[in-house]
Amino acid sequence: MYNTGIIRFKQYKDGSGNLTPIEAESDIPFAIKRIYYIYDVVPDATRGYHSHKKLHQVLIPLNGSITVRLITHIEEKNIVLNSPHEGLYIGPHVWREMYDFSPGSVLLVLASDFYDEADYIRDFNSFLETNPFRGQV
Ligand code: TYD
Repeated sequence: MYNTGIIRFKQYKDGSGNLTPIEAESDIPFAIKRIYYIYDVVPDATRGYHSHKKLHQVLIPLNGSITVRLITHIEEKNIVLNSPHEGLYIGPHVWREMYDFSPGSVLLVLASDFYDEADYIRDFNSFLETNPFRGQV
């Protein structure tokens, strides 16, 4: 799917548990400038509802399960994230909605830049109308 993809991280397992390391610019395709995490999400809540003009992000479900609806200028897909050693890369111009947060789930987000409200497109029609890939297959 355009500007998206699953990234599988290393997983070191031993008898006592698992460890997953993530290094910027090698395990993920950008330098990390910001992290944030979403947690204590109330039942049936849906979050997101935006795209970004320039930002690159990787979403990692540290605990539990979260479903992400991705919409590009040509397609739509729902992806279940439930493995802490897999991340969902989302680049610019991809609409995302997050829902079905399981109780106790924690979603970690790695971002390529600092928070900037001017980088958000929060109106779905604007997302479609201003999408630079509009009309391309
Ligand atoms: P928002 O992007 O709307 O969250 P979601 O996409 O999960 O629905 O952000 C919620 C609030 O948090 C909003 O007031 C902006 C603020 N915020 C920051 O201050 N810094 C950040 O890095 C992020 C992601 C959000």
